[in-house]
Amino acid sequence: MKPNSRRVFLRNTSISSLVLLANPLKSCSSKIENKIVSETYKPLILSTWAHGIPANDKAWDVLSKTDNILDAVEQGVRVTESDPDNLSVGLQGLPDRDGIVTLDASIMIGDGSCGSVSFVRQIKHPISLARQVMEKTPHVMLSGEGARLFAIAQGFPLEEEKLSPKAEKAYREWLVQSAYKPIINIENHDTIGMIGIGKDGKLAGACTTSGLAYKMHGRVGDSPIIGAGLYVDDEVGAATATGLGESVIRICGSFLVVELMRQGRSPQEACEEAVRRLTVKNASQIADMQVGFLAINKEGEFGAYAVHPGFNFAMHHSEAKVLKDAKSKFSDNG
Ligand code: GLY
Repeated sequence: MKPNSRRVFLRNTSISSLVLLANPLKSCSSKIENKIVSETYKPLILSTWAHGIPANDKAWDVLSKTDNILDAVEQGVRVTESDPDNLSVGLQGLPDRDGIVTLDASIMIGDGSCGSVSFVRQIKHPISLARQVMEKTPHVMLSGEGARLFAIAQGFPLEEEKLSPKAEKAYREWLVQSAYKPIINIENHDTIGMIGIGKDGKLAGACTTSGLAYKMHGRVGDSPIIGAGLYVDDEVGAATATGLGESVIRICGSFLVVELMRQGRSPQEACEEAVRRLTVKNASQIADMQVGFLAINKEGEFGAYAVHPGFNFAMHHSEAKVLKDAKSKFSDNG
């Protein structure tokens, strides 16, 4: 038996499967192995949440023109970093409890190259700064004032420290109670994590966030931690996470998903096992928090799974671009 034979799902004779099989020119492939079919897509771009749709559009456009999956994921998430209405990514995001916006981001490619920035202020595109850390320094991660000074040295403009109108309004409302509750995902979005595979099989990922709303000043989540918010390995696949960062860091979430795939799990099985472990390690908080994982393996199979209902993800391949609801461990009524 092939080591990954457990990954494929039973052949169904749906019309869509038959159409795919009937057209050899389509880049979406379906493999028949002993009456078993596994759908794979190369290229394929996945992003967390509905804000991933325009981000994926940009990534797809870049990938189509350049065949460069690293450029694609970087340019893709920059769209979300620039979205003036987004409250969980970029400088327009919700501030910490002192009213200051601090950003976290990471980027990685499948040969192990990676870079990240955390607790950085005044930089509109922390994902591009993370890429500069990866490409221009011998380090993986720069934080706070050091990251800001590095950005200045690299020619990044400094943005004015001023809350966006939406963030300002939300912060003022929060100040009334100033309740310090690290509950995430109340608006059904948090962080953009994007992972992608090119037609050449090269993988890359990018993850960027303004982090937990009203966090303690200095708090850093999973998104800039390589192996927590993002992990990519061309030998296996890629994974990214969204949700309450502390819970993801506790299980090295994205690294765990990739390692489970290395051991033969499908992307879906790997995401489900990571959520199972996360719920065990974060049992006291689990009712009030959300986490979702996304994964792609090197064949171009994908998976997604969350703690609670409500996590969706944007998928873009040569046949379609769709927003899909992820399955979850707990149901709506708990
Ligand atoms: N996942 C984003 C954060 O916890 O900051």
